[in-house]
Amino acid sequence: MEHEYSGLLSQETKEKIDNFVKFHKQNNTNVVLITSGGTTVPLEHNTVRFIDNFSIGTRGSASAEYFIQKSYAVLFVHRRRSLRPFERKFHNVNLLKLINKNEPNAPTELFKVNQSLINFNFDQLLESHQDAVEKNLILNVDFITVFEYFALLDYSCRAISSLEKNALVYLAAAVSDFYVPLNEMPEHKIQSSDGNLVLDLKPVPKMVGKLRSEWCPKAYVVTFKLETDPSLLLTKAKKSIEKYQHNCVIGNILEQRKNNVLILESNGKVTDIYLNEEKHCEIEEMIIDHLCTEHFLYKKNQPSYG
Ligand code: PMT
Repeated sequence: MEHEYSGLLSQETKEKIDNFVKFHKQNNTNVVLITSGGTTVPLEHNTVRFIDNFSIGTRGSASAEYFIQKSYAVLFVHRRRSLRPFERKFHNVNLLKLINKNEPNAPTELFKVNQSLINFNFDQLLESHQDAVEKNLILNVDFITVFEYFALLDYSCRAISSLEKNALVYLAAAVSDFYVPLNEMPEHKIQSSDGNLVLDLKPVPKMVGKLRSEWCPKAYVVTFKLETDPSLLLTKAKKSIEKYQHNCVIGNILEQRKNNVLILESNGKVTDIYLNEEKHCEIEEMIIDHLCTEHFLYKKNQPSYG
């Protein structure tokens, strides 16, 4: 698979990632690599049509904010134009930039009114964003296709491997399961005049094994397992952890993903995290709380982690 995505990353992006990691290595900061949003599968080299999925990056962008609250630096590898930390609650991303620059024309008052409607503290959000930027705690890099995703994942994991156990990998992106390999893809737009379109999609290679064994073997690695049938969730999560030998799988059911997840750790412990009327927070806050504790124990070399 290497030959299919090598060369897709610009020198500028590589340098940004390297500098970010170097900075946090010097400061001994925990760094989390978060993947977020859905990958696309192009059907033509000159792409007119592509296969997409439902993910808009809520899980990844919300999680990034809570990791930053815990003083982690976040390398945020996300689908272009999907939700980003701090900006996710705004319909117009540029608005946040205008307000942050104290642009007099920014309709601050209007948004302060909306703030009360959607129940979040506007000033606090701006402050947290500003603080994260000033402390260099967030680097946004984006992908669109599954090929770009793999190029970024590969490069970023190798970069953070120098941080050893201070690195955490949190794979929340919804990665395409089937694709057209580059060498089988037509150059130009598929013609509707050719009649029915029959697609022969190949399974996308799984990257978690390589990530675990080669790219960043000492990082604490968290993957997600998405199912629509609740009876499969725990079994599939267990299989995944047995196969890849990573640290943790977070199982979620598509319809309930904002209210309930199951966290399965490599030592067999299962934690059921759910929101009810008494818990006035986002589920990501509870997930990140839990993971930061587990990461801390992992770094302390708890016996169960070997
Ligand atoms: O973005 P939202 O709308 O908030 O939705 C969040 C979510 C439901 C997408 C998220 O919580 C989630 O479950 N993400 C993982 C979905 C997925 O691709 O699951 P999977 O079983 O296909 O993959 C297992 C794991 O390996 C995932 O962590 C995935 O990111 C990773 N993977 C998968 C395939 C592949 N080729 N390479 C990978 O790295």
